[in-house]
Parts: sequence; C-alpha cells; structure tokens
Amino acid sequence: MNEVQSQIRQLCREKNAIIMAHYYQRPEIQEVADFIGDSLALAQKAQTTTADIIVMCGVHFMAETAAILCPNKKVLIPDATASCSLADSCQAADLKAWKQQHPEHIVVSYVNTSAAVKALTDVVVTSGNALKIVNRLPQDAKILFGPDRNLGRYINEQTGRNMDLWDGCCHVHNRFSASQLQTLKNQYPQALVLAHPECQKDIKDLADVIGSTAVLINYVKNNPQGQYIVMTADGVEYEIRSACPDVQLIGVGNACEYMHQHTLSKLLNCLQNESPRVTVDAQVATDALRPIAKMLEWSK
Ligand code: 13P
Ligand code: SF4
Repeated sequence: MNEVQSQIRQLCREKNAIIMAHYYQRPEIQEVADFIGDSLALAQKAQTTTADIIVMCGVHFMAETAAILCPNKKVLIPDATASCSLADSCQAADLKAWKQQHPEHIVVSYVNTSAAVKALTDVVVTSGNALKIVNRLPQDAKILFGPDRNLGRYINEQTGRNMDLWDGCCHVHNRFSASQLQTLKNQYPQALVLAHPECQKDIKDLADVIGSTAVLINYVKNNPQGQYIVMTADGVEYEIRSACPDVQLIGVGNACEYMHQHTLSKLLNCLQNESPRVTVDAQVATDALRPIAKMLEWSK
C-alpha cells in the first residue's frame, strides 16, 4: 500500500466508510477497496452494509442505486462526472414518450440507467440476472426493454421473447470487432473467448462464455490454467490476475474512460471532504426503489 492508499484506509476506519468498486476500476482503486463486484453485487452489498458512508467507485448510476437503496447513508463518488454512455443514451422524457406509445407494455430497464429512468420502470435487470428476471415475466407479456439493444437482442434470442428494444449501446463494448476477434482466435486456437452481453451479436456468436463481469471472472477462477481473449472492459484484468496468476490473457478489452475517471487522489479528497455526495430526489427515489427492490428479490 502506498501513502495515499494508507490515508484512505485510515479515513475509512475513522468515518465507518466502505469503499465499493466496480471491476472496471483502475487497479490501484480496486486494491484499496473493501468490496469489488459487478453491478448486481454492488447493489446487493449496498443493501446490506452497516457502514455510515458508502464511497462508490463506479459510474454515476451505481452511486444513485446505492443512494436509493440506502436513504439514511451518505453516498459519495470520487468524481461526480463519471457517467456512462449507455445510461446517457436513454433520457427519462424519451422513455416516457415511448411508454405512452405502448401503454400495455411492461418496462424492463437495464441497471445502466439514471434514477429518473428507473422511476418509470417496472423491473430493473443487470447483466447478471437479466435472463432469470425476464423469464419470470408472463410468457405473453408485451415488453419494452432498454437501453442496451445488444443485451436486449441476446435476451430475446435466449428466452424466445420478442421484446421491443431501445436503440442504445455501450461505446466500449460496441466497438469490439468480430474480424479482429477472429484474427486473435486464429492466432491462439486454444484460447477461450469471454464476452459481456453488451457486445454485438457477431462477437457473442464467437464467444465461449457470455455473462456479466462477475460471471466471466468466476469462469476463469474455476478454470485458471487456460488462455483467454477478453471482450469486456480492461479493468477485469486486475481481479483475474490477482486470483489466477498463471492465466494467459490475450487482447484484454478496451478501457471504460468513465470508470477510469476515479483516481486515488480524488478518492482521498472525497473521503476527506465527504463530497461529492450523490442524492436522488425523494419522489424519484421512491418510484425507482420499487423496480430495484423487485430485481433484488427476484435475484435470490
Ligand atoms: P456488470 O453488471 O457486468 O458489472 O456490467 C456493468 C457495466 O457497466 C458493463 O459495461
Ligand atoms: Fe457504461 Fe459501457 Fe462504461 Fe459499462 S463500460 S460503465 S456500459 S460506458
């Protein structure tokens, strides 16, 4: 641990604060975190922590979700401008208009959405539970799914549903190219391909394992001897290499620049000043809690 990391840990002890980090964070942030997880695990951890302060080292919607689940805790984020291209692709006013055009539809929203979008949603899903949750909806239900068209298409294929899809995507996952992946596969014929469902269909068609960041990481932990081509953001490398030093990672993802906005110095400032704080309007929080709570209940 370096000097700044030691100061951060000291402040956490003094203030009863917990640092929660997504797997896409810079290695030095994951190193100092109390808890590292995918979007689902971060929400589940926020729900159960006894800390007074949650410092969310993830993108803004992750901090909002924690604030909605923990109205009596202080939720901080080292850089409040850490947004998400996918969440930004669906504004609440546009979703509202889409809903008005389809009044009989159930609205299923990916967790990568603002609190205002969740407030207009019937049930939230993450990449870790989307198939399970959509499968619980009545077979004949009409469904609007947003904002990730790649994940939505994948759910349709896997469940035999015909959900209407919002036309959004994550710029990090959408730019993986199938021809580059095929070149890597030709070069490393033994390598398995790990892909996040936010990737396009042609990438997923070439993948051996498709799942949330936690699913992909756990697959490697359970099979630690192999070679892997990683089609998700580069931050997963830290957890994989920490747990499986012998594994060979080839072509490890693209960086999510939003996730990389958090640095150790911003994290230290945030703990010292207890700012920036993430809060959610009370009515929006009440409306958004319902579909988030349903997701957590249905994930059990
Ligand atoms: P996970 O839920 O798999 O961690 O994904 C979050 C995310 O932002 C993927 O781009
Ligand atoms: Fe958003 Fe994509 Fe970054 Fe995930 S990787 S946080 S979906 S921009």
